[in-house]
Amino acid sequence: MQRFANRVALITGAASGIGEATAERLASEGATVVCADVHSHGVEETAKTLRERGAEATAVVCDVSDPDSVKATVRETLERYGALHVLCNIAGILKFAHMHETRLDDWNRILSVNLTGTFLMCREAIPHLLESRGVIVNTASTAALAGHPWTAAYSASKGGVLSFTYGLAIEYGKQGVRSNAVCPGSVETPIHDAFEVPPGGDRKLLYRIMPFDKMRGPDAAANAIAFLASDEAAHINGIGLRVDGGALS
Ligand SMILES: NC(=O)c1ccc[n+]([C@@H]2O[C@H](COP(=O)([O-])OP(=O)(O)OC[C@H]3O[C@@H](n4cnc5c(N)ncnc54)[C@H](O)[C@@H]3O)[C@@H](O)[C@H]2O)c1
Repeated sequence: MQRFANRVALITGAASGIGEATAERLASEGATVVCADVHSHGVEETAKTLRERGAEATAVVCDVSDPDSVKATVRETLERYGALHVLCNIAGILKFAHMHETRLDDWNRILSVNLTGTFLMCREAIPHLLESRGVIVNTASTAALAGHPWTAAYSASKGGVLSFTYGLAIEYGKQGVRSNAVCPGSVETPIHDAFEVPPGGDRKLLYRIMPFDKMRGPDAAANAIAFLASDEAAHINGIGLRVDGGALS
C-alpha cells in the first residue's frame, strides 16, 4: 500500500515509541516525513533510518510546548517541501504522583507538552492543512476515557486533547480538514519507564490500566494512526479511537 504517496507528514514525538513507529509506517507507504522531537539524537536517528530505507525524511528538533519552536518547525516543513498534508501530534510526557502531592511545576509541564503542545502545532499547521485539505491525528489516551490513578495532570491533559480534537473536527471538517484522536493503552514504549506506584498507593487501583490480554508494540498504535490519517478514513471525523487491546471494554 502507498496510502501516503505525494504527501508530506509532520510527526511529533518521532524520536521514540509510537511517534517513531508512525514515522516508519507513513514513510514505508510513500510519505515524505518531517520527524520532530525535543530529543535531538533520537529524532536524527529516526530520520536517518527512514532515509536509509529510501524515504524522503528530515529531522527537526522541536519542543512542542514552545510557540517559537513550533512555528519554526512548521515553517521549515513548508520551506523544504512546499506543503503539509498530515499532522500527527504524538509527543507526550507522563509522571506518576498522588494528586495531592503533584507539584505545580509538574502539572504545568505536563499540560504544556501534552495539551498546549497539541494546540500550538494545530494552530500553526491549520492554515496549510486547509490549503491541502489535510488531516490531523492527535494522541489522547485511555486516561481520557476512564479513571487512572496517580496521573491527575496527564489524565487532564489527555481529556483536553480529546475535547480539543472534537472541536477541531466540527470547526474545520466542512472545509475539508479531518481531525481525529487515538486513545492508546498498554503500548510497550519507554514512556512506561516513568511508571511507579507512589508511596502508600494501592496497586488494586491499577486494574483499569492493566493490559486486557498483553502489551503490544508501538506498531499497534501506529497502524491506527496511519489508518485515520489515510483516505480510507475519509468518512471518519471527530472520533477518539481506543487502541488498548480492549482494556476499557
Ligand atoms: N505507550 C502507551 O501505552 C500510551 C498510552 C496512552 C497514550 N500514549 C501517548 O502516546 C504518545 C507517545 O508516547 P510513547 O508511548 O510513544 O512514549 P515515548 O516516551 O516513547 O515517546 C514520547 C516522545 O515524545 C517526545 N517528547 C517529549 N516531550 C516533548 C516536547 N516537549 N517536544 C517534542 N517532543 C517531546 C519524547 O522525546 C519522545 O520521543 C504520548 O502522547 C503518550 O501520552 C501512550
